[in-house]
Amino acid sequence: MSDHGPARLVVLASGRGSNMTAIARAVEAGHLGARIAAVVSDRPDAGALAAAAKRGLDTVTVDRRRFRRREAFEASLTAAIDGFEPTWIVLAGFMRVLGRSLVEHHRGRMVNIHPSLLPRHRGLDTHRRVLDAGEPDHGASVHFVTPTLDAGPVISQVRLDVQPGDTADTLAERLLPLEHRLYPATLALLLNHRVELIDETIQLDNTPLDQPLVLDRDLSADGRLLDGGHAG
Ligand code: GRF
Repeated sequence: MSDHGPARLVVLASGRGSNMTAIARAVEAGHLGARIAAVVSDRPDAGALAAAAKRGLDTVTVDRRRFRRREAFEASLTAAIDGFEPTWIVLAGFMRVLGRSLVEHHRGRMVNIHPSLLPRHRGLDTHRRVLDAGEPDHGASVHFVTPTLDAGPVISQVRLDVQPGDTADTLAERLLPLEHRLYPATLALLLNHRVELIDETIQLDNTPLDQPLVLDRDLSADGRLLDGGHAG
């Protein structure tokens, strides 16, 4: 990790990259006091790579299909990431489960956004599973990455109500713009050193955080803590 200059984000993305773009916009607007050192993908055709290149960001592909063994892929991915001396590793739609050694190596410095109100619905197909379970609400979570998939401590969430007639597609469509507000807001807290992972516990301003911060209740989209919520 580099100790000099603005914090360096390495963003990992496998898909279209709309969260990566939201983060890049916040960086460009000067809201995060950080720069994106690189966007790394496991898929050469990821929209995120094209979107990043268009913004003049460095991109790297570590193509999973070129490796027979997962260990070799992960070693190459780790080398690519570490080459950029990241302060933070930001998973934004990265569709590979990362191995324990890579995750441990970056413990407390790697975050992910997941489209559910964790701990509900870890894993894939979250919008469909919310509807199948007849749940009244849905949302997204930003969490620290630990070796168990989608199980790391949750920093922040955004919620939305399920409406009559919602489908997996309409839920995904309504959730995505909220993710684009939640992720930069949460990164702002991390980059300002207001939120940290100490052992297994999230600390907010050096006090254990007992529940995730909720966007627009506890946390504003520009990363300020709001009065009234338990963040008070
Ligand atoms: C988002 O729904 C995110 O929550 C999930 O993967 C999707 C990525 O979308 N982890 P995008 O590539 O950022 O547009």
